[in-house]
Amino acid sequence: MEIEIRLEEEKEYRLVEELTREAFWNVNFPGCAEHLLIHTLRNTKEFIKELDFVAVCNNTLAGNIVYATTKVKDNNKEHRVLTFGPLSVLPVYQNKGVGSKLVAHTVILAQKMGYKAVIIYGDPEYYKRFGFKESKEYKITNKEKKYPAALLVLELYAGALNGIKGVFEEGAIYEVDEKELEEFEKGFKKKEKDVTKSQERFMEIANKYV
Ligand SMILES: CC(C)(COP(=O)(O)OP(=O)(O)OC[C@H]1O[C@@H](n2cnc3c(N)ncnc32)[C@H](O)[C@@H]1OP(=O)(O)O)[C@@H](O)C(=O)NCCC(=O)NCCS
Repeated sequence: MEIEIRLEEEKEYRLVEELTREAFWNVNFPGCAEHLLIHTLRNTKEFIKELDFVAVCNNTLAGNIVYATTKVKDNNKEHRVLTFGPLSVLPVYQNKGVGSKLVAHTVILAQKMGYKAVIIYGDPEYYKRFGFKESKEYKITNKEKKYPAALLVLELYAGALNGIKGVFEEGAIYEVDEKELEEFEKGFKKKEKDVTKSQERFMEIANKYV
C-alpha cells in the first residue's frame, strides 16, 4: 500500500477531526476526547503548523500527527522541547505502517528544525521502536516528580539533553473540559460509547511508574 505523507491543509481540519475521533473512539475510555484536543490545539501558540502532517492512502486521509512546543522546567530554567499527539490512524488503515511513517517523517523534520527532543505520553511498546526511552533515563519527571511508564523521551541528536532535567510541563493545551467535550460531540455523527479491552491496557499503563 502506498502511503503519502504531506502537510495538512486547513480545508481538511474537520475531516482530520473526524478521523481522529474514529481512531480513538472507545480506545482509552468510552468515547474519546482527542478530536476536541486537536481542534483546540490548532488555535494555540504552541501548535506547530509545519509539523502537522497527514497520511494519504488510496486517496483517503488515513492518518495525522500534530506537534506542539512544550517545556521541561528545571527550577527557574525552562527548556523548550516538543510533544506530539494525537497520533491517529483510521482503524481500517492501522497496522500497515501509517503511524510509523508519520512519526519517522516528522521526527527527522523536527531534528532539522533544530529541536532538541520530543517528549510524549504514550504506549512504550509502540514508541520504543522509534527510539523513545523512559523519561527516568533523563531525570525528566511529571508534575508530581514521578516517572510514569508512559512518559517517553526521544533525543533528536546525541547529547541534546545533556544538562537538561526537570519537570515535563505538557501545558493546559492537553487538558480537556468535559462540558466542552459534550458540546463539541453534538456536532458529530452519533457513536455508541463502549467498554473495551484496550481501555484496560490504557489504565494499566497510565497507572504504572518506573
Ligand atoms: C497507535 C497507532 C497510531 C499506530 O499506528 P499504526 O499505523 O496502526 O501502526 P504501525 O503500522 O505504524 O505499526 C504497527 C505495529 O505497532 C503495534 N501497535 C499498533 N498500535 C499499538 C498500540 N496502541 N500499542 C502498542 N503497539 C501498537 C502493532 O502491534 C504493530 O507491531 P509490530 O510491528 O511489532 O507487528 C494507531 O493504531 C492508532 O491510531 N490507534 C488508535 C489511537 C491511538 O492509540 N493512538 C496513539 C496514542 S499513544
